[in-house]
Amino acid sequence: MARTVYLNGEYLPEGEARVSIFDRGFLMADGVYEVTSVLGGKLVDFPGHARRLERSLEALGMGVPLAEAALLEIHRELVARNGIDDGLVYLQITRGAPGDRDFIFPDPETTPQTVVLFTQAKPNLAESTEADRGLKVISIDDIRWGRRDIKTVQLLYPSMGKMMAKAAGADDAWMVEDGAVTEGTSNNAYIVKGGRIITRALSTDILHGITRAAVLRFAEEAQMKVEERSFTIAEAQAADEAFITSASSFVTPVVQIDGVALGAGVPGPVAKRLRQIYIDESRKVAL
Ligand code: PDD
Repeated sequence: MARTVYLNGEYLPEGEARVSIFDRGFLMADGVYEVTSVLGGKLVDFPGHARRLERSLEALGMGVPLAEAALLEIHRELVARNGIDDGLVYLQITRGAPGDRDFIFPDPETTPQTVVLFTQAKPNLAESTEADRGLKVISIDDIRWGRRDIKTVQLLYPSMGKMMAKAAGADDAWMVEDGAVTEGTSNNAYIVKGGRIITRALSTDILHGITRAAVLRFAEEAQMKVEERSFTIAEAQAADEAFITSASSFVTPVVQIDGVALGAGVPGPVAKRLRQIYIDESRKVAL
């Protein structure tokens, strides 16, 4: 069945939604995005995603085209129209289509932004086989630009990183800069040592994960110790366990890094517990 998608104020069958070849998202990767998960027909961490979207838009000198309430309404409408129980809502806002190619930003008065949303059905999103077996990751150089805190649609390198992982028989890649892990290709990275949860501190080097914020809050509420600092691949390989977080994977254990098994080589208790807490608590407050 064709999805109903949202484009610039209209709900359309996916095959009828058209964006100009001059759209700056297409020509310049001049756009930002958000991915919000849906559990039981409700949106997880929506206010966090809406706030980060505004931050990304402001960082790029783009206006905020829709207030949070209007954005929530569109998300809900798409979830309802597409009968999504578990899945994702993808949102993208670009600087619009000025009608020609030019490096200079168009005048926002005459070039409205392009706003696109669509759903992805993921039945049983919370019961993932990947979470049960744990992920194998490889390390790759982080050669992305310096404003990784802005959630732009420049995803070529993360996409190449996932292909490098696939070619190596792994599930994903962790990126390394100046000897320290920044983050996963589409997730934040963590290790656990002696009961302490270690993850890189927030800066322009990484995306400020919405799942990260919630998981660290739950960890502290559960009296777990959290250290926000950088770590190396060698330290990660010697850790008791490791995991990633993102809107699409929640908390997912990592069991192998560059061919080295962590601990017993199976998902660890801290990652498993945090995954359960995150999913349970998120369901309670989903919108
Ligand atoms: N990715 N780091 C990067 C580079 C990401 O792309 C993502 C999310 C995260 C985790 O952020 P959050 O917890 O807010 O989802 C960290 C999304 C899911 C994606 O690109 O599909």
